[in-house]
Amino acid sequence: MNTSTPTSRLLRIDASARTDGSHSRRVGDIVEAQWRRAHPHGERVHRELALAAPTHLAQATITGFNTPPEQLTPALREATALSDALVSEVRRADTLLIAAPMYNFGAPSALKAWVDQIVRAGHTFQFGADGPRGLLQTRLAVLALVCGVPGALGSPVDFLSPHLEAVLRFIGVQRVVTLHVGGTAGPAEPVQAAMATAERDARGLFA
Ligand SMILES: Cc1cc2nc3c(=O)[nH]c(=O)nc-3n(C[C@H](O)[C@H](O)[C@H](O)COP(=O)(O)O)c2cc1C
Repeated sequence: MNTSTPTSRLLRIDASARTDGSHSRRVGDIVEAQWRRAHPHGERVHRELALAAPTHLAQATITGFNTPPEQLTPALREATALSDALVSEVRRADTLLIAAPMYNFGAPSALKAWVDQIVRAGHTFQFGADGPRGLLQTRLAVLALVCGVPGALGSPVDFLSPHLEAVLRFIGVQRVVTLHVGGTAGPAEPVQAAMATAERDARGLFA
């Protein structure tokens, strides 16, 4: 048994509704393999959004977010319990890997629900005299993003990459690296080439 302190803690998020034949999971696997090479004893936590989508924010969740901890009722505690768990998962990780497809120009709704649960004042960001400040210590986030239409990611109608990049920087992630694999709805060859490029780009990220 390895009892040494993990050299890195990776939180991997998967957001594709598909578990079979998913391209974003493949890109995620490619990136994760590079992380594993650099951190053979690293700790990995996996958050599977498609199989267990986070609930949407409700009145009680937002009331709970805005209530001092010592004044939380049992109902408000319950309403914020999922956020508490997801926030502590994110705070514990030094590296984030988010594997996600573009759905309708943006993020799959389960990923957006996760974002809404983890971007939380006093927990992952706070407002000060100089404006908002991210509270995470996360060194690196890698976004493994795919789309069906060639070139949709990185185009003016890509509301997935800039959204995730902005959110992660807002909560304090120091470095965000975005990998794109497009054209998954088309022929296999260019997709393979894009996967190979993603693999090359992922090398050295975790050194
Ligand atoms: C509901 C839905 C919406 C989609 N919207 C877009 C889109 O706006 N632009 C695009 O290029 N591809 C779109 N696609 C294609 C997916 O991004 C593509 O099939 C991707 O490979 C899916 O990820 P996965 O292979 O990991 O499941 C959409 C697919 C689905 C199922």
